[in-house]
Amino acid sequence: MSKYITTPIYYVNGEAHIGHAYTTFIADTMARYEKLKGEDTYFLTGTDEHGQKIEESAQKRNKPTQEFASEISATFKTLWDDFEISYDKFIRTTDAEHMTGVQKAFLEMHAKGDIYKDFYEGYYCVSCETFFPETQLIDGEFCPDCGRTTSVVKEESYFFKLSKYEDKLLKHYEDNPDFILPRSRANEVINFVKGGLRDLSVTRTSFTWGVKMPASLNDDSHVMYVWLDALLNYITALGYGKDGANMKYWPASTQFVGKDILRFHAIYWPAFLMSLDLPLPKTIGAHGWWTRDGEKMSKSKGNVIAPKVVADAYGVENLRYFMLREVPFGQDGDFSQRAFIDRINSDLSNDLGNLLNRIIGMSGKYSDFEIDSKDVIKYHEKEIDAMNEALGNLDDFMKNLQTHRYLEELWKLFAIGNGAITGHEPWAKMKEGKTDEALATVALVANILAKAVIMLSPVMPKTTAIVCDALGFEINNESYKDLVLGKNLLKVFNIKKFHLFFLALKNL
Ligand code: ME8
Ligand code: MG
Repeated sequence: MSKYITTPIYYVNGEAHIGHAYTTFIADTMARYEKLKGEDTYFLTGTDEHGQKIEESAQKRNKPTQEFASEISATFKTLWDDFEISYDKFIRTTDAEHMTGVQKAFLEMHAKGDIYKDFYEGYYCVSCETFFPETQLIDGEFCPDCGRTTSVVKEESYFFKLSKYEDKLLKHYEDNPDFILPRSRANEVINFVKGGLRDLSVTRTSFTWGVKMPASLNDDSHVMYVWLDALLNYITALGYGKDGANMKYWPASTQFVGKDILRFHAIYWPAFLMSLDLPLPKTIGAHGWWTRDGEKMSKSKGNVIAPKVVADAYGVENLRYFMLREVPFGQDGDFSQRAFIDRINSDLSNDLGNLLNRIIGMSGKYSDFEIDSKDVIKYHEKEIDAMNEALGNLDDFMKNLQTHRYLEELWKLFAIGNGAITGHEPWAKMKEGKTDEALATVALVANILAKAVIMLSPVMPKTTAIVCDALGFEINNESYKDLVLGKNLLKVFNIKKFHLFFLALKNL
């Protein structure tokens, strides 16, 4: 079965901050993990470029909207390229093929009787691009999601019959407990649906920066509501409404989002898909927010940390590791430089770096950089069992999107390796003439490190490639199948003399 992993498409109202980097890192990790396992995987990211919010952002900067959108979109793409994000496609909602696909979908929903014309009267939050009835506003004025002032909207509009899908949605949540992960987030969605769904306004007439109506509807005064346009990117990217070339990847396996946009992905999106008679994604994975001083980091607020600044100072893979390890998936986390530095120094420099250095040092001293695994099982069955147990737990953690637990479990391997060295004291065994035993311990830890870096490679692809190069093997689906799934040992290692590369990090 193939896999399809997506990030949200980010608004081009401002440049990326570490919140966007976080979603993209997790999705990239998942895509690399699936590829490591040999799955045929497609990974999509991109930018969301229509709507009032973008139009207003462009006006503020005195730029033509398309030019402004293209400029900011390019900054996202450049950043992901700098970070070597392994996306298969970077979609822009201003791409002609996307817009055609959206029009096709609109016609299809219309033909099905799910779209009708009426008059909308209510409130709109431009920052959230969301309609609210008066009853939901805070103090009769403010957006219940972001707290900003809303504006009054009174206009003719096409509506999508969202209410029609209420029961079907509730049944889907009930039958598919992994549709929303973490499971603890499902309740808020279920309660929202149970509270009653109103039909959704899916076109606007008061501005023009959006996908035009399908020509056959002959209604030029309307443009599509940006969320209808945006959500459809996940299928237009696969060729929906065109040649359908990559529709074999649909339904998505995991669609990563922040909790801010869970409602759109867990309610509107599946309802649109039901209307189009398409299967629903397997999982919507909603993570928490990176905050600063307790407040959500956001482009509109401007309280952001630029990922490039952190990556340039400390290395992008250290940043990936930190973000995935530090905060449990689904929960909020405050970005602290102190926590970042401590985490990298203790986990990467100490645990991982030390193990590698000890292997290099001991193999150089005892066996001219060649390590033979022939006696490992004889002397180290206990450690091997413990190692296999931890390795065997990893897949479930990743499937449940618990990246922090995945890494925590993976780090047990370094503890087993470092513990074996301390416990068996190969240097003492060498002195006592128990060379086989000493070399078996070195070979044990080399094997532990080899397996650990294979499983760390989706999180830190370059760093682990360097470690593997020092150990004399490559990370790929074959070594994964042999050393991780097959539980085999690497018979011989030819170690490259290598310098410490995990320098301890210091404050900027
Ligand atoms: O919502 N912490 O785009 P957006 C963690 N275009 N993640 C964060 C974050 C934070 N402080 N801030 C943003 C949109 N993100 C729409 C999406 S999809 C069809 C359309 C991440 O630019 C997180 O993934 O506001 C969040 O859901 C997304 O960026 C919102 O990006
Ligand atoms: Mg946002």
